[in-house]
Parts: sequence; structure tokens; C-alpha cells
Amino acid sequence: MPADQILVIFGASGDLTGRKLIPALYALRQRDLLPENFAVLGTGRTEMSDDEFRKKMDKKGEGYDREFIKMLHYISMDPQNPENYYQLRERLRQLDHDFKVKGNYIFYLATPPLLYDTVAEGLAAAGLNHSEFNGGLKKLIIEKPFGYDLASAQALNVKLRQYFDESQLYRIDHYLGKETAQNILVFRFANGIFEPLWNRNYIDHIQVTSSESIGVENRGGYYDTAGALRDMVQNHLLQLVALAAMEPPAGFDADSIRNETVKVFQSIKPLSPADIRRNVIRGQYIGSKIKGETIKAYREEKAVAPDSRTETFVALKFFIDNWRWGGIPFFIRTGKRLPTRVTEIVVRFKNTPHRLFRSIFDEEAGTNQLIIRIQPDEGILLRFSLKQPGSGYQVKNASLDFHYSSLSDGKLPEAYERLIYDCMMGDSTLYTRGDALEACWKFIDPLLDAWKKDDTIKVYGYPSGTWGPEEADALLHSNGQTWRYPCKNLTDDENYCEL
Ligand code: BG6
Repeated sequence: MPADQILVIFGASGDLTGRKLIPALYALRQRDLLPENFAVLGTGRTEMSDDEFRKKMDKKGEGYDREFIKMLHYISMDPQNPENYYQLRERLRQLDHDFKVKGNYIFYLATPPLLYDTVAEGLAAAGLNHSEFNGGLKKLIIEKPFGYDLASAQALNVKLRQYFDESQLYRIDHYLGKETAQNILVFRFANGIFEPLWNRNYIDHIQVTSSESIGVENRGGYYDTAGALRDMVQNHLLQLVALAAMEPPAGFDADSIRNETVKVFQSIKPLSPADIRRNVIRGQYIGSKIKGETIKAYREEKAVAPDSRTETFVALKFFIDNWRWGGIPFFIRTGKRLPTRVTEIVVRFKNTPHRLFRSIFDEEAGTNQLIIRIQPDEGILLRFSLKQPGSGYQVKNASLDFHYSSLSDGKLPEAYERLIYDCMMGDSTLYTRGDALEACWKFIDPLLDAWKKDDTIKVYGYPSGTWGPEEADALLHSNGQTWRYPCKNLTDDENYCEL
């Protein structure tokens, strides 16, 4: 059971609080995982009473029980006004007294990123960053995006560490909160059969695909300044690569695990200007018709510049220069307005050294693949060849498959439930450490730089509802391979699936 706490949310009138944070807290309550004494204090510029905040949080009629609703409070404040932090302090003193939480506070930054250092500074100026105020532990959760490039991420780290110790900082990457991402470690290190094969000798390459069928929706303003590389690759997808590529940790504690992930990031071979031209493909969705419905082009979306060159799709090839992975390509592909929503890791094993059945192999048969499905239809699929029953030796592909939905308690908790709970427990394993974050930016920065400086590097248009520009396929063809085209259902045959 976590210690008694107050969760203070900055930016509580924004979308994330009602859509993700409060439902996650309620789910924790239903599983009896909230501290015995617990309260939420939302803050934001919008003027609201506690009651109005409670109504806003339960707008969708989630059916929160009365006792839970009574835990929700609100104070309106301007995070840029230092005076307001003293009013916050007073409100905390009173709530702490009412709820008897003994000075344990989590400050959750769900504001626009420009305010992160301002809020940290304001909290520190009012003495809310250490245990001298009411005793207890003070922690700071920081939402993404953490920085805009390497320099801004480093500057933010420096600023935050001025007011908070690294052990108080919890940088969120909600992909690490996904049950299936965490399972990569258990799958790799609790089974004896895969790890001996998990290296350059047996693996041909690894693909990570994260596709979404939605466009940028109402986030055009943010997205147009970010793009797919910053929005998905720098954080979520590199984290998945780290889980798939890391060495076994010395122990199962935050430091041991995070030491190994940072080593992966530090070993990624930097891309040269020529690699960036050749091995990084960016695209942007153009309008199309899907099942009779007209889909807008990205440049027609709200708050997007009509001549925007922001990428809504990116595919890249890179290498991890270490003993385990030297010479083995890794591929990442992500985009909006692709045919379906899927995130998966495909481990393609090498072919047999001698292809005994070569003459009757079809293209696919004979390559073993392990597919780790992060979402949806979470599960694991192993593809292998077998003999087609009947005369001769026709080879066909078959699958061994596991779906989380087949477990009797198969409902997977939402990422935010796990992450908030871990922060309450003081476990930072699933949060990104400052050095790991900077190492990721170090890899991404030259790509952003090249795109900014060199407008001869193309942004390929791709019709909404397709798998991105054809040039992304060529990345794998040069390796004699193809992307797996995933379906919504893990076991559907990729050639015939209903998208
Ligand atoms: C967010 C990105 O971090 O992750 C979004 O900003 C993206 O653009 C989202 O849609 C995807 O998350 P999930 O959990 O739906 O895969």
C-alpha cells in the first residue's frame, strides 16, 4: 500500500486530467491500491470551485462513487505568478490536516512544457520541494515532451535539478507503463529458450512499428511544431528498442534496469549526413477517400500551416554498435493516418544455413519471426514453417500464439495506473532517467538538424489510409527484407486482414 499522499496536478483543467489521470486513479481505487488517506488537488488558470471541478471530471458519467469524488479538490492559480504558490501552500496545509497525509506530495506537471521549469521554481520558492514543509516526501512527475531538442532537454534537466534531486524526478513515458512493454523483460529474462538466440548470430533484424489510423485531431498546433520523430520516436519507440536490445540487468531494481537501457541508447551508432538522406524517410499524409469518406490532408488540419513540412510519418534504419547487435539493422516506423492502430516489435530470425526446401519455398516460408504485440490484441506470436499435409514437401507458415485476452484476468491495466502507482511507491523503474533522455536526444538531434537546414531532403506525401511512402519499403528491400504489414488482430494473415 502506498504511503498517504496528495496528488497536485498542474494543468488540471486540461484534457489529460479528465481523460487519463482521474480515470487511472479511480481504477486504482477500485483495485484497492490507493493510499488509505488520499486527495487530489487540481490547479489551473480556469476559475472553478471544488464542485465544478468534480463535475468536470465526471462529465462523461464514469459513475465515480461519492467517496472518490470527495477526494477531488481544485485551486485556481497562475503558475507564472510566484505569489500564487503561497496560496497553494496554504491550501496544501489545510488538506494535509483534513486528510492526514503527513506531507507526502506528488506534483504532476500536465501543463504546456514551457511552464515546467517555472512551476519547479515556484514550488521551490515556496518551500514545497523538500520535507521541511510538513515532513514527508515531495516528488515531481513531468509529462512529455521533455525538451524540444538536446539543448533544451539538457537545459530543463539542469533547471529541474536546481530545485529537485534526481531521485525526486519522475519523467513519464507512458509506453513504459504498458503491461506488454514490461512483459518484454519477463519474456526475455524469465525464459531460457529465447535468450541464447537473442543476438547477431541468430537474428537478421528487428522492426518496431507503431501505426495509428487517426490523424492529428485537435492537436494540430502542438503537432506541427513536433512531428512524428519528436512525438513518437525520441521517446516511446526508442524505449521499446531498449527493452528489446538491453543486456540482462544485475538485479530487478530501478537503477540496474535503467543502467542497461541507457547503455543501449549510448551504443546507437550516430547517423551521418549520408545515412540521414538514405536511411531516414519522412512523409506527410495527403487527402484521400477511405471507404467513401473524404479524409483531409495534414496541411488542411486545424492549426497546421498550409505549407507545413512537418512529418506525420517516419521510418528509419540504424545500428546498435555493441557485441550483441553489431551489424544487425534495427528499423522503426511510425505514422498517423495509416491503415490501422498497431504497435508491435518483430524479431526476424536468420534463415537456416542451408535451404533444403528451397525449390518449394514461397517468399515468406522459412523465416522465423517472433512478434511481440504491444497493442491492441496484446500477445506474442511465433511464426515457423511446417509441412503442408499431403504428398511431397510443400512448406507453409504456421503460428504459435498467445493472446492476453485468453488469461482469465486478461483485462490489462492502463499505463497511467501503473505509472502513478509506482510513483506513489517511490519506484522509478518505469520512468526515464535524465541521462537516458539526453542520450536519446543525442541520436535524434542530427536528424532534426539536417531536416531543418537542408530542404532538398524530401517530405514524401502518402495518401491517408496507406502504409506511408513507398520509399520506406525500400529501406528494408536493400536488406532483402520487407516490413510486416500488421493487422488489428495479431493472428490474421497479413495478406488478407480486414483493416
Ligand atoms: C502520445 C503522442 O505520446 O502517444 C500521440 O503524443 C500518440 O501523438 C500517442 O497518439 C499514442 O499513444 P497510445 O498509447 O495510444 O499508443
